Amino acid sequence: MSEAVKYEDLKIEADRIFGAFEQEFKRFERFAVDRFYAESLPDLTQQLKSEGYSLTEAGDQLSDLAVLKTKYTGKKSEWAAAKKQIGRIGDGLQRASAGQLLLLREVSMIDRLENARMSLEQIIQALRVERESIDVTMPGRRPRPGHLHPITLMRERIEDIFVSLGYAVEDDREIETDFYNFDALNIPPGHPARDPQDTFYTTDGFALRTQTSTVQIHAMQRRGAPVRMIAPGRVFRRDTPDPTHNPMFFQVEGLCVDRGITMAHLKGTLAEFVHRLFGPETRTRFRPSYFPFTEPSAEVDYSCFNCGGEGCRICKGSGWIELGGSGMVHPNVLRAANVDPEEFTGFAFGLGIDRTCARIYQLDDIRLLFENDVRFLEQFR
Ligand code: FA5
Repeated sequence: MSEAVKYEDLKIEADRIFGAFEQEFKRFERFAVDRFYAESLPDLTQQLKSEGYSLTEAGDQLSDLAVLKTKYTGKKSEWAAAKKQIGRIGDGLQRASAGQLLLLREVSMIDRLENARMSLEQIIQALRVERESIDVTMPGRRPRPGHLHPITLMRERIEDIFVSLGYAVEDDREIETDFYNFDALNIPPGHPARDPQDTFYTTDGFALRTQTSTVQIHAMQRRGAPVRMIAPGRVFRRDTPDPTHNPMFFQVEGLCVDRGITMAHLKGTLAEFVHRLFGPETRTRFRPSYFPFTEPSAEVDYSCFNCGGEGCRICKGSGWIELGGSGMVHPNVLRAANVDPEEFTGFAFGLGIDRTCARIYQLDDIRLLFENDVRFLEQFR
């Protein structure tokens, strides 16, 4: 026969367990919406969303709630144990009121747990529908496909022409030793081109190449003679930016070395190049010039593609536009690259890509090309 239980003791125990439940249930209280008021749920869902309440959070709370239910109303709960004590109260009246007291509290717990569960499930459903729904009436986001930079477009046009004439395309380093940037190009120490005012040097005595002519030497050393190549690339000079100058710009070098190459080949090649780039009516003009690495040297101009030589805004009224420098490769340059000048001759040229690009697209200022203004760059697709 088990011991008798006192009504007061059981009441204290039931209050303790119920109090603990109340404490733990606090975090679910806002969900314990009575079924009778279930129409207020959409408002609650809205409010939760504005607080950033997520589907994951709701799922977690639902499983926490199930744990709580087992803890307070399950078969092995303290509450179930307390209920078993009722029958052991000796006094019939007291037994009846203990039964009533515990029942009322149990109903309260089960009701609130159940209301909270149903609300949470409905909220989860609403959040899920929202996540999965697609509003087909929403305006789409305009895709902004990338495109090539105008300098790249220009370089590719130039490359295509020379490749079709049988030239290889060389790529080479932008940081050079004195040998490649100066000595091998017949620019002796003391030459003004070596002045730190004109050239960017690194602290280790390397120079950022000032012209793509450096690749002439690399290409001849690598390939020997005969050789026919172009080398597009970046070059650097301590030039103050203005509408026709940048401290970093692009050139394309051309080199053709073989037996019996003459100035006529140079003229023919560049004439063909401008025909293909600007049209068959374009003429070329060679003006005597000086470069340490060519002898004789010439500046090359072409007749303006816009006015045909009459004079207009693009050619600044002269009818001619400068293409770049050129000439017959100096024997000292061939020698520096281990090519025998008694056997081989060659021509070379160097064109500025930025200025040619600016002319073709009728830009007043080459600095526009590197301001990275998308509204400007987007026009060159
Ligand atoms: C040279 O750089 C020679 N290496 C060209 C050459 C190659 C001659 C082979 C003979 C044989 P020049 O300094 O003139 O030459 O420059 C060539 C082109 O680069 C110019 O016609 C111009 O279009 C471009 N250029 C020069 N400086 C700048 C600059 N600061 N900004 C933009 N373009 C420039």
